[in-house]
Amino acid sequence: MLHHLIAVKECTKAFAPMPSGLGHYDQALYLLLGRQLEEAPGSGPMWALDFGTFFGHSAFALLLGAGKASQTPRTHVLTLDIFQQPEWLLRQPHIKVFTEKFGGSDGPAVRRWLDDLCSRCGLPKDNIKLRTQDVMQLRAEDLQAISPNGFPLVSIDCGKTPELMNKIVELVLDNRVTPLGATLVFQDFFDWHAPWNAYAFSKMIDRGYAGIRHVAPHLGPLLEVKRHGDIGLVCQTGGSGPIQEDWCRPFAALEDELHTLDQLVTLVEKTGDAGAARQLECLKVGAWLRGNRTAEAEALIAKLDAQWPTYLSDSPLQNAYRRVVHVKTNHKDLTLVLNTPHRANRTAPAARLGRRLRQRASMIRPFALKPVNAI
Ligand SMILES: C[S@@+](CC[C@H](N)C(=O)[O-])C[C@H]1O[C@@H](n2cnc3c(N)ncnc32)[C@H](O)[C@@H]1O
Repeated sequence: MLHHLIAVKECTKAFAPMPSGLGHYDQALYLLLGRQLEEAPGSGPMWALDFGTFFGHSAFALLLGAGKASQTPRTHVLTLDIFQQPEWLLRQPHIKVFTEKFGGSDGPAVRRWLDDLCSRCGLPKDNIKLRTQDVMQLRAEDLQAISPNGFPLVSIDCGKTPELMNKIVELVLDNRVTPLGATLVFQDFFDWHAPWNAYAFSKMIDRGYAGIRHVAPHLGPLLEVKRHGDIGLVCQTGGSGPIQEDWCRPFAALEDELHTLDQLVTLVEKTGDAGAARQLECLKVGAWLRGNRTAEAEALIAKLDAQWPTYLSDSPLQNAYRRVVHVKTNHKDLTLVLNTPHRANRTAPAARLGRRLRQRASMIRPFALKPVNAI
């Protein structure tokens, strides 16, 4: 258990004013997982694998968490990235602050920032191993050479294409990379731009390679490796969709994608995480769009809108709606709002207040992983 507010405050203070890819709940989760890794039975180094460094926040939060359990943590993090950030991102004012201070956004610059962070927080900088690496070219034996006992914790946040997702699945199910029981965190689980994350997550469960053991508050389920082996190519590759956006590329037959998401919704409902289930249902809108079935996508939006609980923010639904409009008009406007009588109920002052109170309450409560019966 970890006090959410304290964790987030500490992480945010350490990171400020640098760009973070981690939200508040992610910070709490990574601190908790880092501490749990440090406290795991046994001796010798414990390695976490961080797919997608960005500016290093997930890697650092894990080490910061480990540092809560020991002044000389045995937890090490291997963090990998190609460090080729897009131009639009590098133009953002807060990223410019970073690049000016650390001399760029490449591996060496992020290394300098991590060293600075570690020295400010009294943590051993050598416990974070940073590599400039294209994950597509990564081999299980390269990872085994770094941690012969594997990586009991894997954070996944670079599965930005179906091709990358296939590669990541291949690696995490390789017995040279993870021990049985390893935890897999999908940082991109609900992200619209990487829908194959939830799909691959579900396929690993379906085919008996993994199971859900925990649910993280506001972040959804975590996966645990149950069996190693060659699952094959989970996602189809090379497809093209109705618009030129990666998320619109079909990566599975429509019926299969919808069925897989339905199964996942059912599983997640069983864990008691209604918010995660609603978010996954919104991903089904994307599946219809990838299959060129705009009318069905709109019908699903209308259905979800009518049933959306007032105690949950409807931003996943709004996001889905914007993507429907994008596909229909070929014009991307992420400020559009689906305004309906149902939304009016959700935006009524009492409903807003209820959500705000729930959010405050969840931040005051200690942050803990909720165990679920193995699914
Ligand atoms: C969302 S960011 C990761 C956020 C990070 N985990 C954090 O907590 O701030 C995704 C990262 O994946 C990286 N990436 C994309 N394709 C990659 C590839 N083929 N190999 C390695 N990294 C890649 C990007 O450069 C980007 O930095």
